[in-house]
Amino acid sequence: MRVAVIGCGYIGRRHAEAVRLSPYAELVATCDIDPARAQAIAGTDACAYTDYVALLQKEKPDVVTIATPDHLHVEPTLQALRAGCHVFCEKPLAMTLEEARLMAETAAECGRFLAVDYNRRFSFGYGKAHQLVLEGRIGDVTHAMFRVTDGIPPFVKGRGAYAFLFSMLTHHIDLMRWFCGEVASVYALQSRPDEEGKFLDTVLSFEFASGAIGSIVGGWREGQTRTIEALEVGGTQGAVLIEDVQKRVRLHGLSPDSVEEFQPDYFWGIQTEFYHSLDAHVLSFLERTHKGEPPLVSGWDGVRGLEIVAGAIESHCSGCRVRL
Ligand SMILES: NC(=O)c1ccc[n+]([C@@H]2O[C@H](COP(=O)([O-])OP(=O)(O)OC[C@H]3O[C@@H](n4cnc5c(N)ncnc54)[C@H](O)[C@@H]3O)[C@@H](O)[C@H]2O)c1
Repeated sequence: MRVAVIGCGYIGRRHAEAVRLSPYAELVATCDIDPARAQAIAGTDACAYTDYVALLQKEKPDVVTIATPDHLHVEPTLQALRAGCHVFCEKPLAMTLEEARLMAETAAECGRFLAVDYNRRFSFGYGKAHQLVLEGRIGDVTHAMFRVTDGIPPFVKGRGAYAFLFSMLTHHIDLMRWFCGEVASVYALQSRPDEEGKFLDTVLSFEFASGAIGSIVGGWREGQTRTIEALEVGGTQGAVLIEDVQKRVRLHGLSPDSVEEFQPDYFWGIQTEFYHSLDAHVLSFLERTHKGEPPLVSGWDGVRGLEIVAGAIESHCSGCRVRL
């Protein structure tokens, strides 16, 4: 498949490297409004563009990956879908629910695949924990709890009061759905607005359709250089614990000596773990697209994530729990 990458910054570079690892794909073009960035990633084997409309017309790629800033995902995705491409889009799909729904509907109308990059599902830690849950090793899921702290990424400056929800917690909201099923209601607290009014700390609590309950407690800290996230999923027969997603997963049974530990077989470190999950997701999308199989994390997962974000914002504004 002929693949193009639109947006050649930090993440676009990773998309391109993952495409180059795929036996099903060839990187044919890159695009960035900064020509030097497009060229740096294109190298000698792909063509560099500064206008994605020209790229779509001239290169006629089969697949496009989108790694432009959060508020610039919609137009390139719609144009690529309408040009007949399958699209792998960075999270969040869009900054409004209406636009996200339009993206997923357009993919369906055009008969093309649309994936959203909730790459954490492809990390060793969350993937292993999910496998243990699916295997029934903790019985029925009763609760889940995330802790998340991270540095403030430069690209969210000026992106509104709820940038942490859109840009970061959208990953963990997706993981909550993955572990516990559909969210029935959400309640949100926000605190510590910075000088531009962006809330730095968030607490979300969830009720799931299954009857399970959950929470996410998270925050951005100026100057923090490493993402720290921990998860506990509890069930009727035990619990899976991730104290640090980059290191290990523990499975606790009901008795004190019933503990199993799982570690990734690659050298762990922040870049390795993060790049591993990004590469694995791009590679999965390319392989499945090549085989005509829909993506594991579809545009509709991106829409559902944003419905929950919208519910959280409504809850924060009204002070009430919001049913979804
Ligand atoms: N999945 C993840 O874990 C993860 C992690 C970090 C960032 N992201 C997401 O990836 C996206 C990109 O983030 P980043 O850190 O690479 O940002 P970045 O600023 O490094 O890169 C964005 C690039 O897009 C280019 N661009 C802007 N407008 C464009 C246009 N109209 N056409 C072509 N190129 C254009 C910019 O010049 C820039 O080079 C964001 O949506 C971000 O939320 C995802």
